[in-house]
Amino acid sequence: MESIRFQRNEEAARFLASYYETPPLLFVHSYGCQQNVNDGEKIQGVLTDLGFGLASRPEDADLIVFNTCAVREHAEQRVFGNVGALKGLKEANPRLLIAVSGCMAQQKDIVEKFRQHYPFVDLVFGVNAIDTLPALLCEKLQSSKRLLCTPVERDEIVEDMPIRRNSAFRAWLPIMYGCDNFCSYCIVPYVRGRERSRKSADILREFHELVDAGYRDITLLGQNVNSYGKGLSEKIDFAQLLRMLDAVSGDYRIRFMTSHPKDATPALIDTIAGSTHISRHLHLPVQSGSNRILAEMNRHYTVEDYLALIDYAKRRIPEMTYSSDIIVGFPGETEEDFRATEELIRRVAYMQLFTFIYSKRTGTKAATMPDPTTHKEKTQRIARVLAIQEEVVARLGGAMVGKTVRALVEGAGREAGTQTARLDNHMTVDFAGNVPEGDFVNVLVTGVRGAQLLGELV
Ligand code: SAH
Ligand code: SF4
Ligand code: F3S
Repeated sequence: MESIRFQRNEEAARFLASYYETPPLLFVHSYGCQQNVNDGEKIQGVLTDLGFGLASRPEDADLIVFNTCAVREHAEQRVFGNVGALKGLKEANPRLLIAVSGCMAQQKDIVEKFRQHYPFVDLVFGVNAIDTLPALLCEKLQSSKRLLCTPVERDEIVEDMPIRRNSAFRAWLPIMYGCDNFCSYCIVPYVRGRERSRKSADILREFHELVDAGYRDITLLGQNVNSYGKGLSEKIDFAQLLRMLDAVSGDYRIRFMTSHPKDATPALIDTIAGSTHISRHLHLPVQSGSNRILAEMNRHYTVEDYLALIDYAKRRIPEMTYSSDIIVGFPGETEEDFRATEELIRRVAYMQLFTFIYSKRTGTKAATMPDPTTHKEKTQRIARVLAIQEEVVARLGGAMVGKTVRALVEGAGREAGTQTARLDNHMTVDFAGNVPEGDFVNVLVTGVRGAQLLGELV
């Protein structure tokens, strides 16, 4: 796979310095997954490298970037609503530029919609254009015309892009881009292109930089991390990459997402078991508990395959917790299919579930399937999942009471005077304290309220 090194655009830096009398301010809002958030941090990196400062509110910005997500219709509607609400800011500040990036910008019909109905959007650029943003921005500023780029496919990986991260202790580290799986409901392969892995040496270098800079919680990202390494000239797989990173000394945790059940193996579980730094937590999205629906979804595993892996993991690493994504109301999902999902959720006992009502995405295979179930019925199914989940989470939380755990302080807790910290198994605990964010602490778990563990510093 091709990769190139980022080149700073000196000409753009000179132009921007002469164009703005005072240093311009940038506001980036990312709407999507961690990959999208990481792209937003690169947008911040590339532009602060050219002299932009960061605004904490859109009202103060000279450039607002809405870095969008296309995975469900609701995500897109929010963007259209929020972009529409910027019209007033634009009238108040003629110097303001409004840009749209991310996965929505990868779709022709959406770019067309911005062209026709949102005349105050100045710039649209896709997920593969972040390194060329300085040039695009200059082009836009030098002409009175709007610059709405047509989505392009680009397989090349750009290494060494400047990055301005949102946290000083938690970092996202992409190990691969794109997706080849074409789950029948999903837009991601269409907007993110084909799967491609970064070279392990590039990943290791960034990983070292993060550990040296004091990052404590490093999440490896990919739509299907278990197929890491395919297409690279070096011979390496995900388990080997994990072992390579885990060998780096330091006080930090590694997490990864997302594992696709069809490619996750007992060897992955063994790697976690044998590691020093990998969190005892596995995000393994099952989507549905019905084999018929899984086949319609093009997921390439059965409920039995999935449960066999979970059972293996439970035996091998008893303290491990699990999380999953569930789609409710996939076209043709019957009451019987849904009951199978309920049964699976009870059986696995997930620590955390992300539950979505199926959203039709134009261009995907599922968009052509008949979908007779009413929205009301789907909403009721979601409520049933949440009810089971509430019960399960309270039980899992209850089992933690009395344990002393090591946890990473993330920020303010729910109640005044409390802080929240993340356990190695990805649960969070609230405690009274005043510890710097990003420090590890030991906490005695004393109780649980709803899904929230409560504890005391020890
Ligand atoms: N690559 C990851 C997930 C990426 S998208 C994986 O395979 O697990 C994140 C989640 O959004 C998916 O797991 C799925 O549950 C949900 N999702 C994707 N497309 C959707 C759609 N059309 N409607 C509802 N939920 C969807
Ligand atoms: Fe979408 Fe499936 Fe790829 Fe995940 S694996 S991004 S759900 S197509
Ligand atoms: Fe992520 Fe949404 Fe794009 S989930 S990959 S930002 S469509």
